[in-house]
Amino acid sequence: MTTRTTPSSIPLIADLASPLPGRGALPPRAHLKSDAPRQVLDGVWQVRLRPSPRHVSNDGWQQVGARLDPAGWSPLTVPGHLPLQGHGSPIYANVAYPFPLDPPFPPDDNPVADHRLELVASPEVLAHPSVLRFEGVDGAATVWLNGVELGTLRGSRLTTELPCTGVLRPGTNVLSVRLAQWSAHSYLEDQDMWWMPGIFRSVTLLARPRGGVRDVFVHAGYDHRDGSGTLRVDVDLEDGAEAPATISVPALDLHEVAAGVDHQVPSVAPWTAETPVLYDAQVRTPTETVDLRIGFRTVSIEDATLLLNGTPLLLKGVNRHEHDPRRGRVVDLAAARAELLLMKQHNINAVRTSHYPPQADFLDLADELGLYVVLENDLETHGFELMDWRGNPSDDSQWLPAYQDRMRRTVERDKNHPSILVWSLGNESGTGSNLDAIALWTRDRDPDRLVHYEGDRRSRHVDLYSRMYASVHQVEAIATEPPAETFADPDEQHRRRLPFLLCEYAHAMGNGPGGLSEYQDLFHRYPRVAGGFVWEWVEHALDGGTNDDGRPVQLYGGDFGERVHDGSFVVDGLVHADRTSGPALADLARVFSPVGLELAPDLSTLTVTNRYHSLDLSHLEAVWTIDGDERGAGTPIMLPDVPAGTGAVVPLQLPPSAMATTVTVLLRRRTSGDGCPAGHEVAWTQRIPERPVAALEARRVPPRRAGDGIVHLGPASFDERTGMPVRLGALALHDVAVSLWRAPTENDRGVGWDEPELPPVADRWAAARLDDLRSRLIEVSEEGPAFVVRTRTGPPVLDAGVDVTWRWTSDGISLALDLSLAPYGPWPCDWGRAGIDLRLTEPTTQVRWTGWGPGPQYPDTGQGARYGSFVADRDDYAVRTVRPQEHGARRVDDATVDLGGLALRVRGNGLPLTVRPWSRTVVAATRHDHELPRATETWISLDAASSGVGTASCGPGVLPGYRLAPSVQKLRVILQQVGHAQ
Ligand code: GAL
Repeated sequence: MTTRTTPSSIPLIADLASPLPGRGALPPRAHLKSDAPRQVLDGVWQVRLRPSPRHVSNDGWQQVGARLDPAGWSPLTVPGHLPLQGHGSPIYANVAYPFPLDPPFPPDDNPVADHRLELVASPEVLAHPSVLRFEGVDGAATVWLNGVELGTLRGSRLTTELPCTGVLRPGTNVLSVRLAQWSAHSYLEDQDMWWMPGIFRSVTLLARPRGGVRDVFVHAGYDHRDGSGTLRVDVDLEDGAEAPATISVPALDLHEVAAGVDHQVPSVAPWTAETPVLYDAQVRTPTETVDLRIGFRTVSIEDATLLLNGTPLLLKGVNRHEHDPRRGRVVDLAAARAELLLMKQHNINAVRTSHYPPQADFLDLADELGLYVVLENDLETHGFELMDWRGNPSDDSQWLPAYQDRMRRTVERDKNHPSILVWSLGNESGTGSNLDAIALWTRDRDPDRLVHYEGDRRSRHVDLYSRMYASVHQVEAIATEPPAETFADPDEQHRRRLPFLLCEYAHAMGNGPGGLSEYQDLFHRYPRVAGGFVWEWVEHALDGGTNDDGRPVQLYGGDFGERVHDGSFVVDGLVHADRTSGPALADLARVFSPVGLELAPDLSTLTVTNRYHSLDLSHLEAVWTIDGDERGAGTPIMLPDVPAGTGAVVPLQLPPSAMATTVTVLLRRRTSGDGCPAGHEVAWTQRIPERPVAALEARRVPPRRAGDGIVHLGPASFDERTGMPVRLGALALHDVAVSLWRAPTENDRGVGWDEPELPPVADRWAAARLDDLRSRLIEVSEEGPAFVVRTRTGPPVLDAGVDVTWRWTSDGISLALDLSLAPYGPWPCDWGRAGIDLRLTEPTTQVRWTGWGPGPQYPDTGQGARYGSFVADRDDYAVRTVRPQEHGARRVDDATVDLGGLALRVRGNGLPLTVRPWSRTVVAATRHDHELPRATETWISLDAASSGVGTASCGPGVLPGYRLAPSVQKLRVILQQVGHAQ
């Protein structure tokens, strides 16, 4: 006789392969602030890990008094991710599932972690019925208390409450959680982020008083026509209720009024992100009081325009994942608050919680600080796209209960937050009847909010027409579509009546995103466009300590030995994982300015456009400065009354001398507020006068041949054999050469969505060998006071290149170069840049410059940079990114590269200057910042022109107007050695 053990006869394995929701949970409800006793169970638990469900031991570990081998267990901090505490490894994969697509089965290699906590419940908790609340358990878990199974957990970023009345007892209790990394539900959790199992949010024991408040649903609308509010608070009571609940909102003079009834409030202050007015309220039963903060607001759509409280609303948003470089998706509330304040300080007014509900308390912060929220369900099945969506759970009825369960838990937990304007069904899950079903359920359950889902281009069941990474051209086409009636298809008619939203755009990966302004212009121009959410807020690099030089080691996909991974694609945020910000954040703040400012060329007027949703400008003061020096400022500019959505032309009376200087007009806060300190700048503009062309002094010194193959010209010496300068005063110059290449940015490495048939520009450059130019000296000559060198420079293999004329002159102190570069032959690709490189043998200490700063500028970035004088140390100037790439070019008029004694002065007219300790080749070949060699020398690049950066790492490439087609380019620079050798 043969005995067969099929996997399905092993209970845990059968369970993990079930597409059904978890069992044993109470119906989902709001996350309430209650006075009922509670006990937080976060802290040190015990854990043991097994490689697969086949290896788990049923040794009674769930029982009180179980005899366990202490050697098999180790301490673990809850909340936390297992791989970040030495149990297994993180895996980063974007679209692809890191296991075979064999739904609903998980693979056998499936780490299982047994978690164990001994606890003594407080008498206060024990005095009532009780529940155990899990707010986030990544993976699939079974929970026991004292050996009694309470239920199973599915839906990693969703709350589950398991009743434990009668099982929880006085004295020692044992809470056991068996957590498997993979299950059927992993197919629904394919978000672009780290796969990291663990109990990563709080676990709490809650007393649930009989007759207490089980659930609350606040409906608080605002009528902009008469300023009144309507309030209805639906309350669901726990069993055993003796009396109905009452509602009190003291500030509205509502005391102990009935639940479930509409109350008219003659006058309320509406909630907006700009005016986040919240009314404290209490819901009371004889046994429990719940505190609420109520915001009155009404979201609606008219004429395909998104309205808040009757006024068009523009979302200036970011996509936010929860991430901490050491703790993963464990983000404490103080850190979340700091993130939201940083957003507010950069004119961001909206967050999409990509791609799952964040920790519950995050929504309290959004309500209080004022941010609009698109709250997304914990759902993504993107990896099925690689199979042409074959087998996609979204269209398979066996998964319907799971879809319904996830959406319900998403909506029910957070439904009382005024900040949430939109529910999102999930991300990148294809199309199908399960999505349709949850869209309809959501609309029915909460008719006061909008429903979003990007993946369905027909938008049949949603209230917003949403796309990701549409090009500027496509957005404009959508904004100007013909009227709905002109479409024959009823679905198309419906779609045409919806406001348009970019739920993701402007992929902030590495150097970029380029082109923010062009999108914003459309957002301002077309009422149908409700704005968008930049991808993304924070980078997900994981902390790997420091290298021998003390440089932080930041890890990404593949760094943990993953075989299936997506490399640095997880590092694509405006803010680095440690919450320091990259230059793109300053650019975004400028582009998102709530006030448009424009100075007349003759400085006679300032045109002000108030783009706030509801604020006038009385909280701001306008000041002007000359040459960036506030002491030079005259009387503040008196702003007239400029209501939201209107503009004004303000006469200016600046002294006539202002015409010759840089005039900056700043709008800044009079007092602290809205998450910003007093004096915080919300908008600025500049008028920069014609600047004199950088020039030598009048006299010229002629070139002089020393007879030893060296040509002297003022402070410089040239090698006649190459025609290239080798010395400038005390500075030795090396590797002076023409360059058309840049170290590919992440955007250069991407396939532009607007030209999918073409390889990434970086590959086009590589195919043309743009990084390997060779030069031939044609001639050196003396033309009057000039030393003129003619070279031909081109890549091997090709018959295309550039003819270059280097015209050097000197006044005896400085050395001027007029470079002209003319393409010849059939160039197969655009250029990355056109300019020269040189190397100095000393490392840079700092760079001082007058020009644009403090951040870099490429043709389609740098909106946050303004004209002034700046200083940056070597690293800040170079703008180091987790994965090295071209970055850091500042446009300078006059810069000094300090080399610790000696210095190189560079003068030009808005000349792009890049300074860093490594060659481009090294930058391009290095995978991580910490692998770059120590700074021992300086590489300098001076550009006649460079290409924009675009956003092709995910999205369209460089806009046509910012590309650098092979063309005649001219560069003028004046070099001078200054300082003294130490
Ligand atoms: C989107 C996706 C995001 C992220 C982004 C690229 O397609 O929704 O989760 O992967 O692309 O970083």
